[in-house]
Amino acid sequence: MTEHTVIFDGVKKPVRVPTGTLLIEAAHLAGVDIGQPCGGQGRCGRCAVQITQGTVRRRSSLRLSPEDVAQGFALACQSVIEGDITVTVPPQEKIERRLTTDRTAIEVSVPTDYDPSFSQSIRRISLLLNPPRMDDQTDDWSRLRTALRQKTGVEDIQISLNLLKKMGAVLRENNWQITVITDARIELDGSRSDERLVAIIPDLVPEDDPVYGLAIDIGTTTVTVWLVDLITGKVEAQASEYNGQISRGEDVISRIIFSSKNGGQEELQNRVLDTINQLIAQVSKRAHAKPQDIVKATVAGNSTMTHLFLGIPASSIRLSPFITAVNQPPLITAGTIGLGINPEATIDCLPGVASYVGADITAGVLACRMDETEKLSLFLDVGTNGETVLGSREWLVTCACSAGPAFEGAGVLNGMRATKGAIEECWIAGANSEHPYEPTYRVIGKSKPRGICGSGLISLLAEMFLTGVVDKGGMINLSLVGSTPRVREGEHGPEYVVAWGSETESGQEISISNVDIDNLKRAKAAIYAGFTVLAQSVGVPLEMVEQILIGGSFGKYINVEKAVQIGLLPDMPWDRFKFLGNTSVQGAYLALLDWRYRDRVKDIASQMTYIELSADNTFFDAFMSAMFLPHTDINSFPSVTAAVENKSVT
Ligand code: FES
Repeated sequence: MTEHTVIFDGVKKPVRVPTGTLLIEAAHLAGVDIGQPCGGQGRCGRCAVQITQGTVRRRSSLRLSPEDVAQGFALACQSVIEGDITVTVPPQEKIERRLTTDRTAIEVSVPTDYDPSFSQSIRRISLLLNPPRMDDQTDDWSRLRTALRQKTGVEDIQISLNLLKKMGAVLRENNWQITVITDARIELDGSRSDERLVAIIPDLVPEDDPVYGLAIDIGTTTVTVWLVDLITGKVEAQASEYNGQISRGEDVISRIIFSSKNGGQEELQNRVLDTINQLIAQVSKRAHAKPQDIVKATVAGNSTMTHLFLGIPASSIRLSPFITAVNQPPLITAGTIGLGINPEATIDCLPGVASYVGADITAGVLACRMDETEKLSLFLDVGTNGETVLGSREWLVTCACSAGPAFEGAGVLNGMRATKGAIEECWIAGANSEHPYEPTYRVIGKSKPRGICGSGLISLLAEMFLTGVVDKGGMINLSLVGSTPRVREGEHGPEYVVAWGSETESGQEISISNVDIDNLKRAKAAIYAGFTVLAQSVGVPLEMVEQILIGGSFGKYINVEKAVQIGLLPDMPWDRFKFLGNTSVQGAYLALLDWRYRDRVKDIASQMTYIELSADNTFFDAFMSAMFLPHTDINSFPSVTAAVENKSVT
C-alpha cells in the first residue's frame, strides 16, 4: 500500500502512514495530542489544524468558514491523508484548574455511627508462625491459615494465585513473623464472610497503623479521589483533576462513539486510569502514605464512565432501547485493571439503575440521605444528563434528560469551562441606571475574560431577560439596536456584546447570540421538564417538594435566584434549596467506610423506579412549555414577575 510522509511542525520525526489514514491518527502516531471534544464526529470544529504543504481529502469542513478552508485549515478527525503533507497544530485549549485539592474543603465528616470493629471490612493482624521442621511438613499456606485461625477464629480465607506466588519468600524474610491484611464482607449482625487475604507484610506492624482506602468519583468532566484512613474513617487527603478522556469527547455520547473506534475503548480506559493514578500519587504524597497501603477502593460514576473504567463496551448505552452491559459490576482487584495501589485491593464499583442513571446518582442519594427522610425531596444533578430523583424513605423515582453540555460551555460560541478567564457571574445595570444595558461581570482568576462558563451563562441570560434585552421566547430584542451598541446584528445573527475586544484576553469580543440562547434554553427546559414530568408521573404537585437537594460540582456555583429567573429551577422559598457539592464521592466514601452503607446503596439502586423520558409523551409537552423564559406558566414563577417589574427597562 502506498505510504505518505506527514510532518508536524515542532515534531522532529516525520511519520509514515498508509494512504487513507485519518490525520488525527497520524497525529497520535507522531505523539501530537489534538483534542477531540465531540469524539471525532466532525461536529465541534475544535480539532482544526492547518495544512501548510500538500492537501488532504476533507470528509467534512463543518464549523470552518470558507476563509479558514482557503487558509488550509482542516478538521483532523475528518481529513483523509492521500499524499505527503506538513501540518501546523494551533495551540490546544489548555485546561486550567478550578478544582479543589485543599484538605479543608472536605465536606463529609465520619458518620457518628461508624464503628470500625463492627463495620469495617479491612483488618490488620500480626502473626507469629511456627517455622517448619523436618517433623512438621505442613505447607506454608496451611501454616498461615492455622495461625490466623488461632488468633482470630477465621476458619476460611481465600488467597489469590498472585499473592500465593510471593507468600513463601515473604514468610521466610522475617523469620515467620508477619502481618496480614484481610478483607471481608460484613453482614448486618457484624459477622464476616468471604474473607480474603489482601497483603502479607514481612514485619510485625502495629495493628493500629493506618491502612487506607480510596473513594473515587469518575465524572465525565472531573475525577475526584479521597484517601481515607479506614481505621479512623478520616479523609486524609483529596485531589481532583480533569478526566483525561475529555480530549476524546466532552460528553458521554462522544466518548461512547470514540470508544467504538479501533483501539478507542482501550485508549479511554487507559486515559481515565492515568488520571486516577496521578491523583493517587498526589493524595499519597500529601498524606505520607504508600500506595501499597491502599487496600480497598469504592468507585462511583455514571454508567458510561463505569463501563469505560472497567473496559466494558458501552455502545449499547446510546442505542435504543438504551441498555447497559451491567448495572451492578462485580468486585475486581486493582491489579486486574492496573490501578496504582495494592494489586490485591478490591475495587467496588457501586451499582447504577439504568444507562443514564448511574452509580453517581445512587451514591448521591445515599450521601444526601433522601432515602431515610420522610420529607418529600427532589435530588438534582445539574449536568449534561440532568439526572433527577424524587421521593422519600417510602419510594424513589428517577429519570435523566439529555440537557446537553451548554452549561459546561459547549454549544455556545463564547462558552468555556469554569476555568481561569471564564466570566462566572454577570449583571446588567437595568431600569435605574443611566446606561441600563451596560453589563458588569466577575471573572475566575485575576485575568481578562476569555469566555463565559455555565454559571456565567445562567446569570447573563437571567439579566438579559429581566432588563428586556431578550423577550420571553429568548430572542434578542432588535428594537434596542441604536439605543445601545451592545445589541446588534452580528455574524451569527442578533447578539448582545458582553465584553469588548479591548477588555478580553484574546482581543476578540465576547458576545451571546440567539443561537447560543437557544442551546441554553434547551438545556434548562430539559432539566425543568424532567423533574416536572417525574412529579406528574407520581401525582405529586411540585409545590409539595420540601427540599431540593442539588448535587454535582457545577451545582455549587449556581446562583439560585438566577437559575429560577431563567426557569431552570422551580420558584420556591430559597431555604428549600440545599447545595451539597460532590455527592457522588461522598456516597462512595460512605460505602467504602461501612458495609451498612454499601448495602444501602444497593437497596437504593433496586428501590428506584426508572422512568425513560424518551418513551413518555408528556415530556415533549413539558419541554416545549419550559422553552420560554422562565416558562409559559408564568404564575408558577411569582418572584420572577416581581424581579422583571423591578429591573425591566422597557
Ligand atoms: S470536529 Fe474533530 S473532534 Fe470535533
